[in-house]
Amino acid sequence: MPEAYERHLVPALFRPFAADLAARAAALRPRTVLELAAGTGALTSALLTAAPTASVIASDLNQAMVTAGSAREPRADWRQADAQELPFEDGTFDLVVCQFGVMFFPDRPAAYNEVRRVLAPQGRFLFNSWGPLAAHGFAAAFQTALKESMPGAAPAFLEDVPHGYTDLAQVASDLAAAGLTLAGAEEVTLDGSAESAASVATGFLTGTPVSAVLDARQDAQGIRTAVAQRMTALLGTGPVTAAMTATLYTAHHQA
Ligand SMILES: C[S@@+](CC[C@H](N)C(=O)[O-])C[C@H]1O[C@@H](n2cnc3c(N)ncnc32)[C@H](O)[C@@H]1O
Repeated sequence: MPEAYERHLVPALFRPFAADLAARAAALRPRTVLELAAGTGALTSALLTAAPTASVIASDLNQAMVTAGSAREPRADWRQADAQELPFEDGTFDLVVCQFGVMFFPDRPAAYNEVRRVLAPQGRFLFNSWGPLAAHGFAAAFQTALKESMPGAAPAFLEDVPHGYTDLAQVASDLAAAGLTLAGAEEVTLDGSAESAASVATGFLTGTPVSAVLDARQDAQGIRTAVAQRMTALLGTGPVTAAMTATLYTAHHQA
């Protein structure tokens, strides 16, 4: 999964937001940074380019992601870690960052509590999460194609997980429950570009948990082909561009 994710999804979906988040993070002039749910290191690389003197620990729950990320971005110190149970001392970092990871944490207040614990008193927590599925040109087209190719049986993963944590009041409440104050929430819309709609379809079909659902079916190959064709019909042939919306959150210790 890390290879498919890195090849088909990172350039189109994740790199544009990594550049945006890294620039905001670098403006805080951090010295010690912890990255949560770093995946294959899209944000890690952008951050190390924008803030080359920062010391960056990149962590992820999934050891396969850590292995792929550390090979791709050796300037960071990579660690396998569950965001809900961080293996770091109290008050260690002046910045904690997380790109498109919080939606995957089963217990977000527990993860935010760990962020508060490892943050220095004046530290900042910068993270983003996707907006609703309809506000993401690639994800919305993919889900439409999936529903048409698997009538009544399409996995709702994209709607429920990556695009399922969009309520600002809920985010503020989860942070407050962990002793963090939400200091800012900014909607950010960026364009993503890919070589083809089929490439993005391949990314969602093989670089996300949708892959395991299809692998369990006899007709998996036929569905994959149908989804790629339908997504191409929706977005067009050749290189494709789509608008994608996310929210960028800033939090810090409660006063
Ligand atoms: C959509 S990817 C984002 C990866 C990366 N931040 C990027 O921008 O490309 C979500 C990541 O969250 C990680 N993840 C899921 N649950 C986690 C947890 N409890 N603690 C830490 N990482 C987790 C997954 O392994 C995956 O790498």
